[in-house]
Amino acid sequence: MKKVNVVFGTVYGSAQFTAETVTKAIAKLGFTTKLWQPNELSGFVPPQDELLIVVSSTTGQGDIPEDISPWFSELKSSAPYLPLLQYSLIGLGDSSYETFCGAIKQFDELLTELGAKPLTERLEIDACETMEPEIEAKTWIASWHNAVTSVNAA
Ligand SMILES: Cc1cc2nc3c(=O)[nH]c(=O)nc-3n(C[C@H](O)[C@H](O)[C@H](O)COP(=O)(O)O)c2cc1C
Repeated sequence: MKKVNVVFGTVYGSAQFTAETVTKAIAKLGFTTKLWQPNELSGFVPPQDELLIVVSSTTGQGDIPEDISPWFSELKSSAPYLPLLQYSLIGLGDSSYETFCGAIKQFDELLTELGAKPLTERLEIDACETMEPEIEAKTWIASWHNAVTSVNAA
């Protein structure tokens, strides 16, 4: 089974808690996991034979949280070509803002530019609808697991 790297960007901690919950649930399924703290990410280029999950809230007006922003900029400027990388995205946002889940959409665009492939549809969790984003994320893991199993069995 492929190793799963989970990275997160947060302002108030919900995306971190969601990332921790997802990491634990994936580990329970038997995957080797690594939850990266934002301050560990400098120089990290996601290995293409491993899976990537990015969990990020949105701040400002559709902006990427400050803790993960340096890594985003680093990837954008170093622009590694990652055609074999499979990634999944979990966004935390609030639909009362104009640019709902803008940060995770920016990650989607960047990873696509780098040639990486989405393994699942983007999960966007709306704070207007739930106070417990980690519960939605946990439910989503079933579809993530299905996608991993079917893609890697093909
Ligand atoms: C100052 C501020 C600006 C925000 N801007 C946006 C935004 O532009 N788009 C969006 O979807 N959510 C926005 N949000 C909502 C947060 O992304 C959402 O509450 C999220 O759950 C916070 O997660 P965190 O605790 O990991 O930071 C904003 C929240 C605050 C407090």
